[in-house]
Amino acid sequence: MGDRASDPHQAIRPGSETLRTLLILTLFAPPALWLGLAGCMVWGCPGPPPPPPEARLPQPATAPEDMLAQHGVVDRILDVYAELARQLEGGRPVRSETAWNAAGLVQTFVEGYHEKLEEDLVFVRFEAAGRELRLIGTLRRQHRVAALLNAQILLLASRADLEDPADRARLAADLRSYVRMYRPHTAREDTVIFPELREVVTPEDFYDMGVTIGRRRRELFGPGGYERIVERVADVERVLGIHRLEEFTPGFQPAAVTPRRPRPLER
Ligand SMILES: [Fe+2]
Ligand SMILES: [Fe+2]
Repeated sequence: MGDRASDPHQAIRPGSETLRTLLILTLFAPPALWLGLAGCMVWGCPGPPPPPPEARLPQPATAPEDMLAQHGVVDRILDVYAELARQLEGGRPVRSETAWNAAGLVQTFVEGYHEKLEEDLVFVRFEAAGRELRLIGTLRRQHRVAALLNAQILLLASRADLEDPADRARLAADLRSYVRMYRPHTAREDTVIFPELREVVTPEDFYDMGVTIGRRRRELFGPGGYERIVERVADVERVLGIHRLEEFTPGFQPAAVTPRRPRPLER
């Protein structure tokens, strides 16, 4: 666009301010700088030092990265719960083992791994730092309520083939309650707790947390355990007919309305 910064030929033309600055710097440069420059011309200037070998190795996922990926699995399980409830309410035949398997995944992955990590590694650090205490209290309470709800979901799913309308209605209501609570629960963790985690721990502690999360997963589920859990979720999705992602894409119909500026929300 003709400005000096974008035109390198204009930047140091005779009489320009840049040239004057260079001349002043040259006149007042200390002898050591001249020696250094001369050395560079003869032997070449040293580049930045190579990174230490351990820095070139793949680094473990940080705790927030890993916990966010775990929430991806939780999200898919919540979609399974929502679909189970929808099919139960719609009078569709639902096999009890489908609900049983889904609730078993919640027990194994959500309660036995994910929530335990949050409580043992993340929440305690916020409590020690006196940060987000009210929110942490609510998140801990919701873990307990979620466990009670899921125990009941397992119990109801263990009943013979879910033909009793009262059993179906009760199971659907518990599944809905679980999803209703757990979606905002994970959203608060994603948007408040995980982004603030770096501020309540030392850099060393932050690094160690990522290592601990990976180690605990290997201890609980073995190598490739995460992938196997995802496959088990996908198996339940297949039984319920919600395994094809493309089927969630809606057909778009443009709305024939005149746009109007909405009023801002009052706080
Ligand atoms: Fe949680
Ligand atoms: Fe979580």
